[in-house]
Parts: sequence; structure tokens; C-alpha cells
Amino acid sequence: MEYLLTGGTVWTGDGFARLEVAVADGRIVSVAPTLDRKGREKIELKDRLLVPGFVDVHVHLREPGFSYKETIRTGTEAAAAGGYTAVMPMPNLNPVPDCLEHLREELAAIGRDAQVRVLPYGAITCGERGEALADLAAMAPYVAGFSDDGRGVQSDDRMREAMREAKRLDRPIVAHCEVNDLLRGGCIHDGVWARDHGFPGICSESEWRQIERDLRLVEETGCRYHVCHISTRESVELIRRAKAKGLPVTCETGPHYLVLCDEDLRDEGRFKMNPPIRSRADRDALVAGLLDGTIDCIATDHAPHSAEEKAKGLRGSAMGVVGLETAFPILYTYLVEPGLVPLETVLDRLIVRPRRIFGLPGGRIAPGEPADLTVLNLRSPHTVDPETFRSKGRATPFAGMHVSASVDKTFCAGELVWDRDERVAEVSMTLLAKRPLTADVWELTFAGDTSAIARPGQFVNIAVEGCFLRRPISVCAWCDGQLTLICRAQGAGTRALCDAAPGTAFDMLVGLGNGYDVAKATEKTVLVGGGVGVPPLYALAEALCRRGAPPTVALGFNTAADCFYEEEFQALGCRVLVSTVDGSRGEKGFVTALVEKTDCDYAFCCGPEPMLQAVYNLPQLQGGQFSFEERMGCGFGACMGCTCRTKYGSKRICKDGPVLEKEEIVW
Ligand code: DOR
Repeated sequence: MEYLLTGGTVWTGDGFARLEVAVADGRIVSVAPTLDRKGREKIELKDRLLVPGFVDVHVHLREPGFSYKETIRTGTEAAAAGGYTAVMPMPNLNPVPDCLEHLREELAAIGRDAQVRVLPYGAITCGERGEALADLAAMAPYVAGFSDDGRGVQSDDRMREAMREAKRLDRPIVAHCEVNDLLRGGCIHDGVWARDHGFPGICSESEWRQIERDLRLVEETGCRYHVCHISTRESVELIRRAKAKGLPVTCETGPHYLVLCDEDLRDEGRFKMNPPIRSRADRDALVAGLLDGTIDCIATDHAPHSAEEKAKGLRGSAMGVVGLETAFPILYTYLVEPGLVPLETVLDRLIVRPRRIFGLPGGRIAPGEPADLTVLNLRSPHTVDPETFRSKGRATPFAGMHVSASVDKTFCAGELVWDRDERVAEVSMTLLAKRPLTADVWELTFAGDTSAIARPGQFVNIAVEGCFLRRPISVCAWCDGQLTLICRAQGAGTRALCDAAPGTAFDMLVGLGNGYDVAKATEKTVLVGGGVGVPPLYALAEALCRRGAPPTVALGFNTAADCFYEEEFQALGCRVLVSTVDGSRGEKGFVTALVEKTDCDYAFCCGPEPMLQAVYNLPQLQGGQFSFEERMGCGFGACMGCTCRTKYGSKRICKDGPVLEKEEIVW
């Protein structure tokens, strides 16, 4: 598919510019201030920032071996949601990828389930036990480098041997630096906070001592060497000096080390990771290291664990926190906005340098580059809510913190792998204006946060006097900050809504999907709708017209007084057929009679269940997609648990989009 990303600001690597970007077959084909629209689907970026996809050089995806914590699928979904188009998982798995046979298990899961690019590490030593060297040569063609992450390699000789072999294979050693003899059972940084609160501490020396040793070995062997998650000021200084000497050394730190310090700790598992969050002085030294280029990458060390493993406070919880879904919003809000670090530096450390170190393609928005792209929204205030994470892990020290930016879309090899616009959000909206369409049907316009509404046919669920309406209402039109709905006053709730005075505020759930697959449409597609199912079809018709394939629209109503949207569909360029049951408009009878007379091979339907069922039974329809307006009358907006019976058992239809393929439905 060819599409055009338009209406956004592009980070060119040198600066920011208003440019359009055309994508075809997974690659960027052209970049210019304005590009030809013909034959290209337009994706409106609404003033957002388009950057190359982020690369995280340090994550834990837990498969094979620990799928209860995370899987390749959930971990890479989380990566996509964080704006990452490539991640590099660590080898503390079961089996540990320490030979080709073990690595193959991980590669098979990646090949099967990864949503973004995944380039794993092989282990340095067998089983990450720090003893015999792993089969580095056999793994080298498939891995980014070698690491025993989770443990330091204690033996100098073993590390020397590993560096010599890695150098021969032209792969970096990616080192978790930790001297076991200095750990002494600590669980957080050995600083004032630990002493004041009576926790055993992990000293800074346990990290920098081993970096110091390794730097000597790098000098000796010439091996490329990357230090994982540095957390102390001494580490920054050691690496700064090594770089000044010209050693082939790079390093990373994590958002939590850059933004938090031990004064922020609480006795909760979500503040526990290894290395620990250090002192304020360490944090400031890391920020300085980021600014002067000593620190090359910001990596999350995304390390999910189960809720039970993280429920045992600072002392008893497993080490590790998730980070893929919060990295950019946190970095932007707590480093860029206060003026501590320029946005370009953050982007460089998430996008450019990781690729340079590990020799990955991309990192520039230019013709010929892979279409690995991320859309950032720098005006998207919200609170970090782990319940919305794609990751199975929920433990983050950032939970509940305010952030002002979000990752809105991620494209990997041209495929849309994350669309924040599909999320469900609770917002408050104020009724701006109302207009009667018929005696009991009103057009209502609201003002508020519409950023979660973005797809044809989405629904909102409105709370009237503290209670969600039994029925969600489909979105007719929206733009930044304004939402239009058509509401029929049927019961007490909808009556109260239609009677409300402009200025009244309502709580709403927005972004309740209705995910018609626009790509399936052909020139013989018919949209069939009735009642409140009509507005979603209008939005869908708009999308199809934009693609240059105006559909036929068959609308069914009870009486002429019910008809709405006929002229709007016509204005789009659709052929519109209307039937009313009482014969007062268009054709007398049911909408099925209209469809029967129409040359069609594919239908999208939205409306009450009896209508859907009748359409479903039409012989000429081979495929088709159906939206269960009627079934959503359960108040699903509140419980999120609405299901529908299908061939594959009960299928949840709310969050995934209440749309089913014809063959999936059991009536
Ligand atoms: O906190 C951590 N968790 N640090 C590590 O080095 C390993 C990681 C994990 O695998 O859970």
C-alpha cells in the first residue's frame, strides 16, 4: 500500500521541517514540502512530530522460558506502543541462547510473533554462569553482540577471552557490570535514603569497579565494548576518559536513572531494579554525560515481572521495571520541557546512536530508508497508567506521574504497528451546541479532548447524571477539540442528554473502536446502515471516498422523519439508496430489498441486530463485516467486557472494535 504522511513536522536529523513523506512497500519513497496525492492514502499527522523509529538496545522479552512475565508478542507490542521499531533483547532466558540450538528457539518465537524488528544478544558464557565461554562464533551471524546481562562476568580471564573472541567476530561485548563480592545483599542504592530507612544498600563501586576492569581489557584486546545501564557518576567519568583516549567504548543509561533519584523511592517493588536508582548527584552526572555525548543511548532495560514477583516491597521484589511504554513521554516531560536536555539530544540517543553502534539501517527520514517511523504528540497531557500497557509487566516507578507527550503512531517497515488513536480514554466534554434534526433526533456538538477519536465509526459512551447510557453513540465528526454526535432521544437517559443545556459537562469514554477494515473495500462495496448505525458508515464512506472508491450506501429507516445523512453521503459522491418501512421515503420495505437489487460483492453493515441478520442472510454476500450496534446496548462502555457469540467462541467486541467478519458470526 502506498500512503502519504502529511500535516506533520519532520525531524530531519539537522532540524525540524514541514514535509510530506510518501511510503510504499515498506520504504520511504519521497520526502518534500508537498507531494503528489494521486493513488496514495493520506494519513493526517495533525501537526505532530514525525521521527525515525526508536531503537532500544536493552530489553527483556522473556521468551523462551518466562512467558508468564512477557512474550515476544506482548513485549514487541509494548515496544511499538513506545515508538520503538527495533529492540534488542537480553539472553537471560531459558534456555539461555549460548549456542545456535538454544538461540534458534528464541529466533523462532521472534519470527512468529514479533511486531517490530528484534535483534537478540547471545550470551557471553554458557548459561550466563560466568564459566565456560558460550559458542560465540556460531551465534555471531544472528546476534547484535554478546552479553551476560543480569550478571557481571566476574573472572578477568573469562572476560579477556570473551573480548578476544568477540573482536575476532566483529561483535561488541555488551556488559552488565557488577562485582558480586561488593553486593552484600543490598536492594537499593547505598545512600542517605537507604540508611535513613534501614535498607541494605548496593554501593556504587559494585558497578564502576567492573567497568574500570573492563576498560583495561578493552585497551588490551581492542574489542568493541558497550556498557549497560550505567547509574553512577564514577561510571560516567570512567567512560568519558576512555572515550577521550579513543577506546571503542559506548554506553547507555535508562530514563529512570536520568529522571529519578533515591529521594523518590518508596518501599514498593516498582522502585526496585538493578542497578538501583542512585543519588541526586549521580542523576545529575548522568544528565551531564548525556549532554556531552559520553552517554550514547537511552535504553529502557524493560524488565517485566509478574505482579506477585513485584508485590514484595523493596526487599523482597524481583529486580526490574518496565519502561518501553513510558520512555519518550517521561524523557520529554522531565528532561526536555524543563530545558535540561534539548529534544534533539534525546532523539539522537533514541534513534541515531543506537543504530550507529550496532550497525542497523535507518535513522533518517529520506528516500530509500526503511519506513520505520514514529509519530510523537508533544501536546498530549495525561497520567502514566500501567493498566493501559501492552506489556504484561506493570511495575514502573513512573506510575501516576504526569506526562505531557505521547507516542501516537508507530510504523515498522511501513506497517502501522501502533495507533494510540485506537485507545479507550475517559474524558470530560462540554456540550457546545445542539440542533434538532427531527422531532426526537438531535445533533450535539461537544468541546474537549478528542485525541483518542480517530477512526471511522468509533463510539463514545456518555455518562448522564453519573451513569453511563445503556447505548454508546457513534461519532459523526470530530476534529481537534470538537466532537459531533447524533442522538435519538429514546429513553430517560438519552432524553436528558438531548435536553441538556449548552455548557453542561459530561464524562465520556471515547475511542471505543469500530474497526472496519477499509482495505477490504472494492468498487462493488455496499455500506448498509440503519438508525444509529448510519453515522459510523458516514465516516467510513469518507475514508473510502478518500481512497478513490466511493461506495454505494443503502440506508434503512422506519419513516421519512427518521432519515438522516442522506444528503451528506451524496455530497461525498456516494450512490445513496433509501428505504423506509412505511414507504414514506425512497423504496417501501426493508433495506435488504435494496441490497438485493444492487450489484455488490462486499458489505459493511452497522445497525440493529435484526437488520444485520437480514443482511447476513442475503445470498449474494460472500464476505462482509458487521458491527453490532444492538449488542452494545449492555452498557459495555462501563465494563469493557461485551462479547458476542462467534464460530470461535465468545469474542470480545468492544475494545478490539465491535466488528466481525461474516464467517465469524453464529446467529
Ligand atoms: O533490574 C534488572 N532486571 N536488572 C537486570 O540486570 C536484569 C533485569 C531482569 O532480567 O529482570
